[in-house]
Parts: sequence; C-alpha cells; structure tokens
Amino acid sequence: MRTPWVVGVSGASGTPYAAAVMRGLLDAGETVDLVVSRAARLTILDETGHPLRDAHWKDDVARWIGADVEDITFWPAGDLAAGPSSGSYPAKGMVVVPASTAACAGIAIGLSKDLLQRAAEVNLKERRPVVVVPRETPVTRSHLEHLLALHDAGATVLPASPGFYGAGARATAEQLVDFVAGKVLDAIGVPHTLFRRWAGQLADRPPADQ
Ligand SMILES: Cc1cc2nc3c(=O)[nH]c(=O)nc-3n(C[C@H](O)[C@H](O)[C@H](O)COP(=O)(O)O)c2cc1C
Repeated sequence: MRTPWVVGVSGASGTPYAAAVMRGLLDAGETVDLVVSRAARLTILDETGHPLRDAHWKDDVARWIGADVEDITFWPAGDLAAGPSSGSYPAKGMVVVPASTAACAGIAIGLSKDLLQRAAEVNLKERRPVVVVPRETPVTRSHLEHLLALHDAGATVLPASPGFYGAGARATAEQLVDFVAGKVLDAIGVPHTLFRRWAGQLADRPPADQ
C-alpha cells in the first residue's frame, strides 16, 4: 500500500485550489486521504454548484476535481477514530487547502475539534511536512499570531496569493489557481508542471544590449 498525503479542505473560499492540489498529487502518482470539514461543504456547494455528500463522495469528489478518485480515500470529518487521527497511521504529511482562519486557529492551539484539525496536529507532532494555505483578507492580529504559531510548529504557511508572472495580465483564473497549487506541491517536493518557472527573463524586456 502506498503512503498517502492527507488533504484537509476547510471552509474558506478557494475550493478550486484544493481540487488543483489533488489533481497534481494524483497526476504525480501519489495517493490522497481526503478530509472535508462541515463548513467546506458550504463553500464547495457555493463554488461548484454541487453538494459533497458522505454517502456519494466518489461521484461528488470526481465531479468536483474532474479526475478519477480511485487513489483517494475519503474520511468523514466527524470520524475522530479515522486513520489520520493517529500518529501511528502512515501518512507522508498534510496539506490544508484552503485553510479557514478558524482551522488555522484550531490547529495552532491544538483544538482538534474535528478530524481535519486532529490530523493536522498529528502530522505536526510527527514532524511530517504540513502546508497550510490560508485564505482571508485583510487579517487581524490574532490571525497573524495563529499563522506564526503554525510556522513555529513546523508548518509551511503558504498564503493563497498567486503570482502573475509568466501569464501576466492575460492570466486566466485557472492559471492563477494552478500557480498556488504548484507552490503547494513544490513545498512538499512533489513534481508538477502546473506553472512556468521563472527563468530570469521578463516576457517583454528587450535584450540588454538594445
Ligand atoms: C461561502 C463561505 C465562504 C467563506 N469564506 C471564508 C474565507 O475565505 N476565509 C475564512 O477564513 N472563512 C471563510 N468562511 C467562514 C468559515 O467557513 C467558518 O469560519 C467556519 O467556521 C470554518 O470552519 P472549518 O475551519 O471547520 O472549515 C466562509 C464561509 C462561507 C459559508
């Protein structure tokens, strides 16, 4: 059995980021253990127009991410006895994408109010790679303090803030989403071709000798 990455989707806007990260992991031959918080069901419904139902997760997740779900294991967020709630459960690490301010706070203080927060705490305590992708703006002091606590606990805090270089003003929403997803995969060492890497050449810059 291949060791999975845990992907936690919390109730912040940005469910396309989660879909792109999962597609990237699956494309790279990785397996995914998926945990979707209760609030994230609202954002998925709002942003895709479709529900995510525990009983129909295979159909619903396949429609949401636009990929085969054969290599995904789905764990209900209320199931605190699920595999990812224990440090002895094998996992490569975890990505929380998008990460609500509530999820950031809960993970930072070890609240473990659901399986998503518990799995993140477990991966941190086991010193595995954990990437947290916060999506809120502007932010309060307490938001910043929770992000700092996550950083200090070993997480990579990777805000959902796409770069426009490469595609520039012509960037599509899909390219911007893929940029953030690609940065997440970079952070956990998973190869991808989700964005064009900066190669030291501005797109419209004339050669230096002109
Ligand atoms: C449509 C919708 C969009 C939301 N967007 C955000 C957001 O971008 N960032 C955020 O921190 N919270 C956002 N929230 C609020 C969170 O869902 C709420 O704080 C929730 O308690 C988070 O719970 P969770 O961390 O368990 O998923 C949004 C809620 C809804 C219904």
